[in-house]
Order: sequence, then C-alpha cells, then structure tokens
Amino acid sequence: MQTENKKVLISIRDIKQYFPVKKSSFREEQKYVKANDGISLDIYEGETLGLVGESGCGKSTFGRTILQLYPQTHGDIFFEKDGEMINLKEQPAEKLRALRREMQLIFQDPYSSLNPKMTAGQIIGEGLTAHGLYKKGDTALRDYVMDVMKKCGLDTYMFGRYPHQFSGGQRQRIGIARSLALKPRFVVCDEAVSALDVSIQSQILNLLSDLKEQEHLTYLFITHDLSVVKYISDRIGVMYLGNLVELASTEELFERTLHPYTKALLSAIPTTDVNDKKRDRILLEGDIPSPVNPPTGCKFHTRCYRCQEKCKKEVPVMTDMGNNHMVACHYPLEK
Ligand SMILES: Nc1ncnc2c1ncn2[C@@H]1O[C@H](COP(=O)(O)OP(=O)(O)OP(=O)(O)O)[C@@H](O)[C@H]1O
Ligand code: SF4
Ligand SMILES: [Mg+2]
Repeated sequence: MQTENKKVLISIRDIKQYFPVKKSSFREEQKYVKANDGISLDIYEGETLGLVGESGCGKSTFGRTILQLYPQTHGDIFFEKDGEMINLKEQPAEKLRALRREMQLIFQDPYSSLNPKMTAGQIIGEGLTAHGLYKKGDTALRDYVMDVMKKCGLDTYMFGRYPHQFSGGQRQRIGIARSLALKPRFVVCDEAVSALDVSIQSQILNLLSDLKEQEHLTYLFITHDLSVVKYISDRIGVMYLGNLVELASTEELFERTLHPYTKALLSAIPTTDVNDKKRDRILLEGDIPSPVNPPTGCKFHTRCYRCQEKCKKEVPVMTDMGNNHMVACHYPLEK
C-alpha cells in the first residue's frame, strides 16, 4: 500500500478499546472505561510518530492494542507483510505470535520489566530462544547478544551482570537491546525516557534515533513530554479522552496549531527564550472528565475556551485542513 510515495506499515481503523468497570451489584448496568474511542490513522514505514496527551487519555492502551497485547473491542489493525495488508485480529494464534516478533514494546520503567534473577545476556537472549531463532547455551546466541549489546552502547563484559548492577540509563539500554534483538520492524516506545535524568534522556533518544536509521525501524513514540516528542518525531498525534484530536507533521503542528487543546498543551512547554513573546499561556481549566461518562459532542467542550453551542451537541470529525494536517474541531484556530 503506497500513499504519496510513503509506504503504509500499519493501518488502524476505528479502534475502540472499552474496559468493563467492576459492578457493585448485579443489578447495576455494565459501564465501560472508553480508553480508546474510535481512532483511525496510518503509520508509515520509517517514520517516528509521536503520541501525546494528558495522563489517562489512552496512549498506552492504543500502543498495546496495536501490538495486540489485548484484543480490541472494535475496529481493525492491518500490518504490512510481504506486500499485503493483513488484518491482525483474523490471524491464527501461531501466525500472530510470529508477527509479534516484528512488533516490539519498550517500557517506561525497565527495572520493573527486567527479571532480577536473570543476567543481561539472558534477558536479551530470552526472546530469541522463545521464538526458536537460537538454541539456549549456543555460542552463536552469545555472539549475537554481545553484538546487540555493543549496538546499544553496553560493554560486553556486562553480559553476566544482573539488573541491580546497572544504572537507570544502562537498564533502559538492556530493555532496548531485548526488543531490538528480535529484529522488529515496528517498535512502540511507551514513555521510554520519562523515568531518566535529562542528560541520560538525550543519550537514549540519540541511541533510539541511530538504531532507527541502522535497523530501518518505525516508531510509535508515546510521551507526555512535548519537548521530547518535538525532538524525535516526524509526525505527532494529539489525544484527548480516548480520541485523536489533531495529527500533523511536527513542523505543522508547532507552526500552525489548529486544535484549541493542542494550543493549550504547547503553550505550557517551558521556554528559556526571552524573545518568545508570541506564546500566551493558555491554562487548561477543570479536571479531565471521566472516560466512563465522557461529555457529549466534542469531549473537550467542558474545558475549551472557544466552545459554542454546536460543540456540546455534535461530535467533530477529523478533517484534512491541507498539507495532511488533520483536526477534529468545529472552530479550528485557522480556517
Ligand atoms: N487493563 C485495563 N483495565 C481497565 N482500565 C484500564 C486498563 N488499562 C487502562 N485502563 C484505563 O484506560 C484509561 C487510559 O489509560 P492509559 O494507560 O492508556 O492512559 P495513558 O494516556 O497511557 O496515561 P499515562 O500518561 O498516565 O500513562 C485510563 O482511564 C485507565 O485507567
Ligand atoms: S469543537 Fe468546539 S469545544 Fe471542541 S475543541 Fe473545537 S471549539 Fe473547542
Ligand atoms: Mg501510559
């Protein structure tokens, strides 16, 4: 599948992910957390697509649903394989398992996701043996793991060390090596640098950028940090309460912001530029509404400074405002 010379790697169509809320009595009507409430987008091969939004808006759920860590409530996810777009939910378990090797996840907190009883070498090699790519104890496995360690900036003498013997940045490198050892084509980085000091953050971001070039990777980069997402992404999607509200190239999103919510998020980025008088800070008032009972019409209307009657009743649909800049708003900041 080709669009404007860009190859679509993943096509996501109307994804809904509803989690049931525990009922307090059997008479009570079943309610759902609408963590993802109808998201459609294409992810192009070789790009880094950033995904931002406040805590709880459904970013991690979206990443994990694409990886089929849990089945979606509604919608389809197509993954390009040998020139064909295959629908992940229609694949038999064995085929899905093989495809999962090509789609990996890098977590926020590598410490809690690394088994403390396993050495770095065992952790990085575990997926390789589980997928039958190498045999346990094989010298070829050891050589390959050491090769991946070097690529990820880890000295090979660290092969036999345990997670607690590494610093936070090194542990994140082990997490990255574990994912990349499987030679994935698509990687979801979920707050991959959020737990690290700023100086280490930039080292890890540079490593991820270098690896992307060397290994021809495609990233979905989830973060709440707009400075990070601006630095690493080719395109950025902005989420609010389970929906995508704006999607554009990084330059477009920052230079021609169209959605009032995005404007408010961007206005809150700290700046050291004393000449930056252009930016009026827009305070986001009120709490994020519950994803169980989201507001009618535009879900952002309870906090939007541009809200009008129409916004309370009609759901705005994603519309291309030119230059592949999509926005879901009845009264975008620019016509
Ligand atoms: N497995 C689950 N079961 C029930 N509810 C869930 C589950 N996972 C997420 N949720 C709920 O879905 C909503 C979206 O959560 P999610 O973790 O995707 O948000 P997020 O944008 O990644 O937030 P953060 O920035 O804090 O990581 C939240 O209300 C959350 O409580
Ligand atoms: S549709 Fe209305 S309430 Fe929603 S973001 Fe646009 S102006 Fe604000
Ligand atoms: Mg999250």
